[in-house]
Amino acid sequence: MKIELAYTYQEINPAELKEKTCVVIDTLRATSTIITALHHGCSEIVTAESISKALALHLKKEDYIFGGELCGKNLTGFDKGNSPLEYTKGIHKQKVILFTTNGTKTLARVKEAKEVIICALLNVEAVAKWLATSTNRSVLICCAGTRGKWSLEDFYTAGALVSKLLILKKNLLLSKKASKARYFYCLAKNIYNGQIKNLFSASANGKRLASLGMSDDINFCSRESVYEILPVYRNGVIKQL
Ligand code: MLT
Repeated sequence: MKIELAYTYQEINPAELKEKTCVVIDTLRATSTIITALHHGCSEIVTAESISKALALHLKKEDYIFGGELCGKNLTGFDKGNSPLEYTKGIHKQKVILFTTNGTKTLARVKEAKEVIICALLNVEAVAKWLATSTNRSVLICCAGTRGKWSLEDFYTAGALVSKLLILKKNLLLSKKASKARYFYCLAKNIYNGQIKNLFSASANGKRLASLGMSDDINFCSRESVYEILPVYRNGVIKQL
């Protein structure tokens, strides 16, 4: 199995994805929020890559909760923001329309892939276990990044995934970026002595969230493998596998 890595969604070429399994990561916070909502009983999440598409969807799907953010801030008229903490209660059997700055754009970019799995640090072990049983030979780990730039927390999560997969599966062919992510994960975990909230707090996204009074989100999203959830994205909809 070949494992490649994109640092940002802008690096991904949709025309090259037909045979690939894409693993989408936006640890702070879109994929963490999606995983948390599904863990707490949400039945499906429809994603939109722009506010206008989200609004159009909301007109058609009135029974859906409307959630998301722009540059971290909650949007007027939306029922919820993009904090995973907002998706732990009152979400059972609910359906959500979600728009976020980078995460939902990443999903739109990979919609032509053979399969798309949603990953964050919260469910990284479950994703590694699933990939270990996959017969597909080509995997692209798609970090969302932040407005075209590399994100530390996505890179760390990608490294956790590669590291766990190496334990579970033989004959992996890692790209240079996938290898670097693995080394980064092992080193950072050691240096931070498992206190990954401190690492994430030092990242650009961590600082931005802290400045918006959302440090609890960083703590929440820095926990490794606390959920067994395996969300898949098909035809614009995310559901638990
Ligand atoms: C994104 O999609 O860029 C993020 O999830 C941003 C955020 O939640 O603040």
